[in-house]
Amino acid sequence: MRNLTQPVLKLGYLLLVITVFGAVQAFSQEPSPPAKTAAEAFKNIQVLKDMPASDLMPTMKHFTKDLGVKCDFCHVQGAFDKDDKHEKIIARKMILMAHQINTDNFHDHPRVTCWTCHRGAQEPESKPPEATPATQ
Ligand code: HEC
Ligand code: HEC
Repeated sequence: MRNLTQPVLKLGYLLLVITVFGAVQAFSQEPSPPAKTAAEAFKNIQVLKDMPASDLMPTMKHFTKDLGVKCDFCHVQGAFDKDDKHEKIIARKMILMAHQINTDNFHDHPRVTCWTCHRGAQEPESKPPEATPATQ
């Protein structure tokens, strides 16, 4: 009997090791919790809710470039969550408008951006600057 128990014990030990190792592996491979959304990470997000929180600042930087402004064009400095400035309210509408244009016309691809219209200016132009009546 003695000759048999040794290998059986060894096998048992080996299985235990495999099980524990497997468990540790499974534990360490546990998927990390999903990244926070902008709505979860910031105080007052009404439109860009599902955007990953890490994309919010790059988006804000795009806004400044696209409109040729600084953060305080839309924000009360030091209180980014406040809605005191009417430019911020308009910006929310513009985000929705651009999104709608892309949904309706460009298969959800972000083809139309703030830059498409604004071109680095607060107010987009509706006609070329040198426009003269076509027939004159
Ligand atoms: C053209 C307007 C505009 C400009 C310029 C702008 N933002 Fe924003 N920002 C917004 C809008 C609109 C929201 C809210 C988005 C929403 O409700 O989904 C927002 C939200 C934020 C928030 C989240 C605040 C909270 O806690 O809810 C931060 C932080 C922020 N902006 C920082 C910045 C910084 C920094 C800059 C300059 C680099 C900047 N923004 C430039 C329009 C702007
Ligand atoms: C389809 C063209 C178009 C797109 C795209 C667009 N805008 Fe505008 N935006 C306009 C027009 C036109 C005006 C001027 C409205 C007026 O004169 O009343 C304007 C005005 C604004 C204003 C007010 C400016 C002021 O001087 O008071 C803000 C803020 C603004 N847009 C932000 C944005 C942001 C942010 C985006 C991108 C998410 C964006 N816009 C995308 C056409 C556009």
